[in-house]
Amino acid sequence: IRRGFSSSAVRNVVIKQVTIIGGGQMGAGIAQVAASTGHSVTLVDTSDDILKKSIKTIEGSLKRVVKKKFADKPEAGEEFIQKVLKNVSTSTDAGSAVKSSDLVLEAIVENLKIKQDLFSRLDKLAPAHTIFASNTSSLPISDISSTTNRLDRFGGLHFFNPVPMMKLVEVIGTSSTSQETFDSLLNFSKVLGKTPVSCKDTPGFIVNRLFVPYLYEAVRLYERGHGSKEDIDIAMKLGVGYPMGPFELSDYIGLDTIKFIMDGWREMDPDNTLFAPSELMDKLVAEGKLGKKTGEGFYKYK
Ligand code: 3HC
Repeated sequence: IRRGFSSSAVRNVVIKQVTIIGGGQMGAGIAQVAASTGHSVTLVDTSDDILKKSIKTIEGSLKRVVKKKFADKPEAGEEFIQKVLKNVSTSTDAGSAVKSSDLVLEAIVENLKIKQDLFSRLDKLAPAHTIFASNTSSLPISDISSTTNRLDRFGGLHFFNPVPMMKLVEVIGTSSTSQETFDSLLNFSKVLGKTPVSCKDTPGFIVNRLFVPYLYEAVRLYERGHGSKEDIDIAMKLGVGYPMGPFELSDYIGLDTIKFIMDGWREMDPDNTLFAPSELMDKLVAEGKLGKKTGEGFYKYK
């Protein structure tokens, strides 16, 4: 594929120093994987309290990884955890963090204006070679990048939850992303131990474009009374070998996230029946029953 702007001044960037903006589930997971594969990571969020929680999440997840990977060598496992944690520093000052970064990856709230403001500010502070990327699940990368002057060095890197376990990364190039940038992002994904797929900057890229309508159809199936939640979950696990059923998985991802994606698509294409709303989904989100993270969604959690 030939991509737009390309200049000999911007070579393939080998990514060593990574700044991750957003210490939530996704940001912490990406930070963990990048640090585990020898990158120097700065994790940025708005408060030290949030960042403390992110580090706790990383530690907890590393323990699970180590339990498997170093099953017979607990000391080597502990050593590995300490080494990885050493590769992660935290900061509440994105502006100074990006000054020594090869890659700035954003995993903050799905709000276009907030993302645009962030990148436009960091664009003035980051070195010329620094690649910017967004982990957005549903907003167009070309809209997020539009407020910067590095359209050629801007792309998407979309990870999946739980990041340490899920092997896929969607690498997204806009019509302005240079081939060098795209190749650097593909290569970075491989160095993380993931398998990248190349995506166009289209709504939902590959996975979510297929997956979110499936989750919604499961809810509508239930609303029509065609099966219980439990039976639909069992059916999809045992019938087609999915590790989680659609209701379990929706609770795991967060109902707010799924609804946000679908609402955005419906606004763009209101007549598409694949994007039809679900009363139950709207009701649960309005009640703050967002899934596992709030203790209740389609199911209740202790
Ligand atoms: N960190 C590290 N290791 C983890 C982990 C985490 N967060 N979560 C699970 N594991 C590992 C551990 O080794 C765990 O063993 P442990 O219980 O001894 O710690 C092992 O996985 C098995 O986990 P569980 O026994 O809890 O359950 P499963 O065997 O079902 O595996 C799963 C868990 C990997 C999450 C699996 O159920 C799965 O693959 N589910 C589907 C997830 C999925 O579809 N994700 C994509 C969501 S879409 C998305 O993210 C895109 C967004 O834009 C919406």
